[in-house]
Amino acid sequence: MRIDIVTIFPAFFDVLDVSLIGRARGRGLLDVRVHDLRDWTSDRHRTVDDTPYGGGAGMVMKPEPWGEALDAVLGDDAVLIVPSPAGELFTQRVARELSAEGALVFACGRYEGIDQRVIDHYAQRGRLRLVSLGDYVLNGGEVAAMAMIEAVGRLVPGVVGNPESLVEESHELGLLEYPVYTKPAVWRGREVPPVLLSGDHGAVDAWRRAQSVERTRRVRPDLLPDEAASA
Ligand code: ADE
Repeated sequence: MRIDIVTIFPAFFDVLDVSLIGRARGRGLLDVRVHDLRDWTSDRHRTVDDTPYGGGAGMVMKPEPWGEALDAVLGDDAVLIVPSPAGELFTQRVARELSAEGALVFACGRYEGIDQRVIDHYAQRGRLRLVSLGDYVLNGGEVAAMAMIEAVGRLVPGVVGNPESLVEESHELGLLEYPVYTKPAVWRGREVPPVLLSGDHGAVDAWRRAQSVERTRRVRPDLLPDEAASA
């Protein structure tokens, strides 16, 4: 998968060199390229923002550098992702959808956002998704893009060594994950649930499922279908 990122802070993405995503880049599974938006400015100060029409606090990102940058970076088949608290919620389902794409371009805005005409222009021209990480405000799209790249990148075939580990996770099954334990069997007087030491795989599966449902009902009842919630 090809991933392009346009940002005024390329250094934010240096950490993509480490861990699982870094290894996937090294193995050619993910081709990630980071671009500095200021390379597409034409004035001496490399200006990317200006005051908002209509007044108000903060600055708005100018359309011209974004137009030049996205014309250069955005291929015909790529999906343009604009991280924004005003976007659709990023979920595991969205991550799955994006992991099936061949190319993604992340346009990371700062300040109060990018001039709306940039969004409208590229929405009309091709595939664009405004995506929010959650109901809170970050200083810019970089951290959101990083989270999305990790969530999407690990779903690309070959990135995670054991694909089975992807299936049982929180949210893939619509439930939160069950608690997990490793050795020793007793730690600070706390024992591992005996069923996990029983060797009875059917009992282990049933216990895990019940734990998932109970945890989801307690912490995230909004995830449960109605009949499970009232069961
Ligand atoms: N930029 C600022 N806040 C954001 C959020 N919650 N999600 C995505 N991008 C953002």
